[in-house]
Amino acid sequence: MIKEILVYPNPILRQKSKDVEVFNETLHTLLDDMNETMLYRGGVGLAAVQIGVLLNVLIINIPVDDEKNLENEDGLQLKENLIEAINPVITHKDGEQVFNEGCLSIPGVYEEITRAKHIIVEYFDRFGKKKIIEAEDFLAVAWQHEMEHLTGHVFIENLSFMKRKKFEKDWKREQKEKSKKQSRL
Ligand code: CO
Repeated sequence: MIKEILVYPNPILRQKSKDVEVFNETLHTLLDDMNETMLYRGGVGLAAVQIGVLLNVLIINIPVDDEKNLENEDGLQLKENLIEAINPVITHKDGEQVFNEGCLSIPGVYEEITRAKHIIVEYFDRFGKKKIIEAEDFLAVAWQHEMEHLTGHVFIENLSFMKRKKFEKDWKREQKEKSKKQSRL
């Protein structure tokens, strides 16, 4: 089922998620709903908190070019490239990269964010099987972005003081204009 995505500054997005303890049907339904919602909204990743569920669950599906299976932002999101991660922990990070990030909870905003270039993550799949993944470049960005949601933070919190201030001002104005339009309907 397609779920509503919480929009910044919804206070639920500031809450810390908790570990999943049972790998049951409820978890599987959550993962399926998250995937449907992410694909419908054209995202490459989604954390459970973004649909209001405070559990350490995230999904990532990096679009790829059809033929070569190479990362491509305008490519296709193949079912076999879907990552479903439960209780993820970053066990290693190194290097640095700057990437122009966006977020389904802050639609229309893109900002350059500095994160680790290469990471190793341990997590569980939907059946409770332990997995280890090594990620770099865009995939590493996606992991770090989604895991940040699980700690109750969003990507724009990484901006410099001045850039953050400008974002807050622009965002508030935009939300006000949106609600004015809605109330006229
Ligand atoms: Co996000």
